[in-house]
Amino acid sequence: MTFANTRATTYNDTVVRQFAIMTVVWGVVGMLIGVIIAAQLAWPALNMDVPWLGYGRLRNLHTNAVIFAFGCCGLMGTSFYVVQRTCQVRLFSDKLAAFVFWGWQAVLVSAVISLPMGYTQSREYAELEWPIDILITLVWVAYAFVFFGTVGTRKVKHIYVANWFYGAFIIAIAMLHLVNNAAIPVGFMKSYSAYAGVQDAMVQWWYGHNAVGFLLTAGFLGMMYYFIPKQAERPVYSYRLSIVHFWALIFTYMWAGPHHLHYTALPDWTQSVGMVFSLILLAPSWGGMINGIMTLSGAWHKLRDDPILRFLIVSLSFYGMSTFEGPMMAIKTVNALSHYTDWTIGHVHSGALGWVGLITIGSMYYLIPRLFGQKQMYSMKAVEVHFWTATIGIVIYIAAMWIAGVMQGLMWRAVNPDGTLTYTFVESVKATFPFYVLRLAGGLLYLTGMVIMLWNTYKTVSAGRSVTVTIPAAVAHA
Ligand code: HEM
Ligand code: HEM
Repeated sequence: MTFANTRATTYNDTVVRQFAIMTVVWGVVGMLIGVIIAAQLAWPALNMDVPWLGYGRLRNLHTNAVIFAFGCCGLMGTSFYVVQRTCQVRLFSDKLAAFVFWGWQAVLVSAVISLPMGYTQSREYAELEWPIDILITLVWVAYAFVFFGTVGTRKVKHIYVANWFYGAFIIAIAMLHLVNNAAIPVGFMKSYSAYAGVQDAMVQWWYGHNAVGFLLTAGFLGMMYYFIPKQAERPVYSYRLSIVHFWALIFTYMWAGPHHLHYTALPDWTQSVGMVFSLILLAPSWGGMINGIMTLSGAWHKLRDDPILRFLIVSLSFYGMSTFEGPMMAIKTVNALSHYTDWTIGHVHSGALGWVGLITIGSMYYLIPRLFGQKQMYSMKAVEVHFWTATIGIVIYIAAMWIAGVMQGLMWRAVNPDGTLTYTFVESVKATFPFYVLRLAGGLLYLTGMVIMLWNTYKTVSAGRSVTVTIPAAVAHA
């Protein structure tokens, strides 16, 4: 069958290929910086007295690199792949899609340069200064145009649930970015927040928590709802549950931000609202996790010899773990112990390494061979090794942080019968040292897995070729 307009009948996978490769590259970069700062916490002299190697600057670079470089490249690439397949239509605009890729890389390179130089708005996960924020806004608007334009020109009536999650991620991040970054520039790369005092803190943590909810969660749930059924070759366990999951999750997340500000100047009732909504959040989170895991019904045996499926399913177990732990930490009396301690860092990384990391890695292992005309990755043995290094690395990392965190919390609150503190602060730092070394070992294992993945990706890409996939004829003419 011939088509009058061949351009309209093939998918735009060029941009997906670019994002897929950069996901792996940025993953290695971001995690390498994570390992460096983990080592600096154990041995502070490793900053070598060079300002741009200082912990305060590299920590921001780590969070930006793993969230906005590794995470967002994974989300942008997979969303462009998924929206075309589920809407059976080419991306709305090739030029805008290319702008999204190159524009986003420009944002990331600006972060790599400006953060070690010390330019920061001092807002966690929104450190980048105003000129970069403007570029982010332009790229994000283009991203929204391409994504929703593709949904709008779809050839199938139904909008598959993965697109709902990706769509919510795109809209919510746009809104959060604009509100939280409202600032008055007072020079090139220097600005002051438009908010003050406790309002400033509340806006920041409304942003911070919803960045977790909509970027680190909703976006990756979009990935889950496409790649798990694909890899398992089974339909989603309950499509009805996926819709309930969507609406319940996006409604609840928006209200939970104050749990980051317990026992602060924030009105007490606001803190309680944050706590209650965090507890409610357990239900939709677990509903989604169960829906993902149960998609494997009747295909459990596949877990035995499919390491890609294992990445995807184990990511959901970590998702379940961190979304159980989060609501518990949001209870004020529990937070009184956990806040300021490494328990929070353990929680963050069970979500980040376990959920975000593993689901992205699994989805990339599904995508990369297909994008380059290969049956599978160059070495499936290496995928298997990656799975085990990553899983063991996560367990060491989070166990070390849990023990360190609870220990710190208990040491800080211990008092003698005469009311004086039992331990000095430095005693708690000394007691934490072995756990920092252990965390470094866990991080190194996780990074090793990523380096293996980079090598495997290089081999797969160089053995393959860029393939052009034609949209099924019947649908193209529908
Ligand atoms: C090799 C892997 C990694 C290592 C060794 C590592 C290490 C670290 C270290 C040492 C910190 C600072 C902790 C502190 O201030 O006490 C940190 C913070 C953080 N990391 Fe990682 N990390 C890794 C991977 C990731 C990934 C993949 C993500 C996200 C997808 C991530 C997200 C974060 C976040 C959000 C924070 C800030 C936490 C907070 O402020 O409470 N990390 N990481
Ligand atoms: C039901 C879901 C969740 C709830 C209710 C929740 C709750 C919490 C609570 C109470 C804290 C500690 C706040 C503090 O003491 O300062 C926290 C910190 C954090 N959580 Fe979660 N969490 C959830 C899921 C997740 C997931 C899945 C991820 C990652 C993928 C994640 C990432 C983070 C990060 C990055 C922080 C540290 C923020 C910071 O201080 O920089 N959370 N969460």
